[in-house]
Amino acid sequence: MKYYIPLACIALLLSCAPEKPVTSIETPTPYTINKTAKASDGMVVSAHPLATQVGIDILASGGNAYDAMIATQFALAVVYPRAGNIGGGGFLVTRLNDGSTMALDFREKAPKLAYRDMYLDSLGEVIPGLSRNGHLSSGVPGTVAGMYEIYDRLGSFDSFAELIEPAYQIAQNGFQISQAEADRLNTYKADFLTYNTRSNQFIEKEQWHAGDTLIQEDLAESLKRIMDQGPAGFYEGKTAELIVAEMGRSNGIMSLEDLKDYQAKWKIPVKGSYKGLNIISMPSPSSGGIALIQMLGMLEYLKLDELEHHDPLAMNAMIEAMRIAFEDRANYLGDADFYPVPVDRLLNRAYLDNRISSFSFGDAGQSDPKGHSGIRIEMESFETTHTSIIDQEGHAASLTTTLNSNYGSKVLVDGAGFFLNNEMDDFSAKPGAPNIYGMVGSEANAIEAEKRMLSSMTPTIIEKEGELYMVLGTPGGSAIITSILQVILNTTDFNMDLNDAVQSGRIHHQWLPDAVMYETGKLDTTLLKNLEEMGYEMVEKTSLAKVKAIQVLPDGVYYGVGDERNPDDHAQGINMN
Ligand code: GLY
Repeated sequence: MKYYIPLACIALLLSCAPEKPVTSIETPTPYTINKTAKASDGMVVSAHPLATQVGIDILASGGNAYDAMIATQFALAVVYPRAGNIGGGGFLVTRLNDGSTMALDFREKAPKLAYRDMYLDSLGEVIPGLSRNGHLSSGVPGTVAGMYEIYDRLGSFDSFAELIEPAYQIAQNGFQISQAEADRLNTYKADFLTYNTRSNQFIEKEQWHAGDTLIQEDLAESLKRIMDQGPAGFYEGKTAELIVAEMGRSNGIMSLEDLKDYQAKWKIPVKGSYKGLNIISMPSPSSGGIALIQMLGMLEYLKLDELEHHDPLAMNAMIEAMRIAFEDRANYLGDADFYPVPVDRLLNRAYLDNRISSFSFGDAGQSDPKGHSGIRIEMESFETTHTSIIDQEGHAASLTTTLNSNYGSKVLVDGAGFFLNNEMDDFSAKPGAPNIYGMVGSEANAIEAEKRMLSSMTPTIIEKEGELYMVLGTPGGSAIITSILQVILNTTDFNMDLNDAVQSGRIHHQWLPDAVMYETGKLDTTLLKNLEEMGYEMVEKTSLAKVKAIQVLPDGVYYGVGDERNPDDHAQGINMN
């Protein structure tokens, strides 16, 4: 069957919204933004209204959730260049309408020339910034291979190229940038100048404003090569040569062979339960699924639902569960294809009960660094992006993808028009040395050629009484895992509406640094005082994560929610009749 993509609709993009928003917020963008939507036959929640619209158009053309996800991801690579990407990587967790589940790992991997101490000086100290910015910080990108794998195994369109066409059109013809994108581009201009030897469209403009048109001709050509040749249009030929030429302009080590050999990997999702819910999430090389299921397991033991939402004692319990899960993350988690990650032990209920059993309500625990040192509260960036989709048939897709920090390495591949990731910083450059998120790691996450760096991305799907119940995920670095936790607890233990559950103020603790991060203006001052009195160091953050979730309501209606923390998050549904 050949599907017709309504190009007129994609060109106009916002003219064919099929339903009225349930709520909307005022944002200084050229777009109408819906933070919530309800619909019967499909739902897309992504980080940008144009990308959401592309996904909806694909569903309207008869495509399934996987077709819509691929098209949305390519569109994000154009309209959300800070995190949407073809130069990065990510994860898919999916539940098909027959109840079967799968996970796809298209995480970046270390180049073949990478080695354990590559970011250390002659004294064995971490060279500041080397794993975070510039050419040497990039892992081998996985997104294009990942999108093709999803298409090949799960897609329903006749051709992969048709799913890239909307992104190609937007790159070629341009689109009006939002205020949030203008602000980001202006903020990072100095970095673009520092890490690029050639000029590009992001640098040429003196100052970006909302409504300015961004045309990306080189990116359009890169997308065209993928449309024409499939993954080989990225991993071989001109695009691969442009990437390797870019590597040669500085200290990059990625080779043509690295690119040609890249492969996405299908995996079995990690699974757990919480109060009758089945949690289906991302396994290694993500820490997200394991840490989430650990925290939920410990909190089930502590019977959180006997407390109120934002009760200091509920927060106290959450913080201690977070502390333990992140300690285990630092000590045991890495790419399981390279290191024996003890998954069964870490998820064992007796183990989790034992780990949390010494907790007593009202007491703040303490993190014992055990050789990890130099920890500082440094969370430079919370970028990454997530898309949640459910289609008319009930297929659910949860996809998180990233360049790591905003615009990744800040290196735009000259002639190819896309940013490369700085994912190498997600490795542990040295045991105990913190990464961008202030997180430490051990041998399990040490750098090795072709190994994948540990991630916190937590694309998740939840079943209730065996049926599809929720699809969710978020950007946010290490706070991804704890934010997903809190949305689940808010809806399950505190019976909150999904929108309230997402917008509600969050906290985050990651073992080291031993401090509780909380969101500015989103938590009651008495609560903060109570936590301080228990002995917690409280550290204010502008925001923690930007959750995109869909809930299947009891009447079968899909309820999509984007996060007010990202002005451009947009939920849109589709009713076929
Ligand atoms: N780069 C962020 C993550 O994968 O967790």
